[in-house]
Amino acid sequence: MDRVITPAGRLAGVVRLPGDKSISHRYALLAALAEGSSVITNFSSGADCRSTLGCLEALGVPIRAENSTVRVEGVGLDGLKAPAASLDAGNSGSTIRMLAGILAAQPFTSRIAGDESLARRPMRRIIEPLARMGARIEARDGNFPPLRITGGPLRAIDYELPVPSAQVKTAVLLAGLYADGATVVREAVRTRDHTEIALAELGAKIETRRGMIRLEPRPTLRGRELLVPSDLSSAAFFLVAALLVQGSEVVIQGVGLNPTRSALLDVLVSMGAQIKVLDLRQHAGELIGDVEVRSSPVRGGVIEGATTAAVIDEIPVLAMLGAVSENGLVVRNAAELRIKETDRIATVADNLGRLGVNVKVHDDGLEIPGKARFRAAEFDSFGDHRIAMACAVAALVADGPSTIRGAEAASVSFPEFYDTLDRLRA
Ligand code: S3P
Repeated sequence: MDRVITPAGRLAGVVRLPGDKSISHRYALLAALAEGSSVITNFSSGADCRSTLGCLEALGVPIRAENSTVRVEGVGLDGLKAPAASLDAGNSGSTIRMLAGILAAQPFTSRIAGDESLARRPMRRIIEPLARMGARIEARDGNFPPLRITGGPLRAIDYELPVPSAQVKTAVLLAGLYADGATVVREAVRTRDHTEIALAELGAKIETRRGMIRLEPRPTLRGRELLVPSDLSSAAFFLVAALLVQGSEVVIQGVGLNPTRSALLDVLVSMGAQIKVLDLRQHAGELIGDVEVRSSPVRGGVIEGATTAAVIDEIPVLAMLGAVSENGLVVRNAAELRIKETDRIATVADNLGRLGVNVKVHDDGLEIPGKARFRAAEFDSFGDHRIAMACAVAALVADGPSTIRGAEAASVSFPEFYDTLDRLRA
């Protein structure tokens, strides 16, 4: 689907966004393994989290979803049933990688696959630790979906993450629920810790200390009411849009501000953005706040090291901001970007080129010159949700109407994105 985005005069208003994608996946998976029912409100409306629900239903978990409220009847750690057919993870790397941790422990064999983009994403990173725990996982070329997972009794392992990936950490921890002793995961670079928080909230015995996570096996998880905060990675598009479009003033309510995710705000503030967090509160161990942003000129800067890992999903939209910033933006240590839904180093550089910005591309990063004046463009999402939405944000400050090819990709995480953007146009 093509979508035309015209330049915006000003953005203003108060919005609440769909639930955080990362947290929605985890709440659904853990609620399924819990005893009793859970009611999850503000569950992500994105296709990725629907994929997780679909897989769980195919594994025999009763689920009722009405709008953004999802009721999950937990079947307990040992209540999953062998699926009748191949499980479909769609476009969702989180679904296939995290669910693999659970499937690795089941007394049945399952197959899980997804779309063309997912078929190109590396799975060795979860196959390797899960195989060490005792699961048998076959993959195309030993690395790519579909996966055929023969589960069984698992050994506890002490595992140092070779890549900073919360999906890998989660796969190991979920398998660890079924292991024969305490599972330990160590991470040199801190990654999002929603799994650890949710496990503790549902009753698991889990300890985290300076890069080390230790989980005791076979807890009784208890179902409960859970509220998913608005997704900060979705909010990122409106934060950048409001910064770019002169005279804007936007408040995003109930945003998840977990410290392992909120580096985005620090990056924006360090660039000179006017951002305020109001009414900071907590639900189920997750920090939540309202974020107010006003348009402001930004300086640009360098994103590298642990910060890159902490803002990895926001780099496409930060790149657009960097291009119009005073000094430009350098992104380093971002090789992981190459194996997201698309090669985001290539797809960001390609779309910036269409706006008239010449980007220097490195194996693991980008050098984006500043002071750009965007010309109207014909963008290509390449089927990647975050690329589609980043381009839409850039189009707000182009010198005429732009078109986004494959604009519907946004619905993977944020089906309401274009409507919300329209509502903010004053
Ligand atoms: C996610 C972790 C990150 C992130 C993805 C969601 C998660 O991926 O990019 O969008 O929910 O754990 P990696 O684990 O591959 O770094």
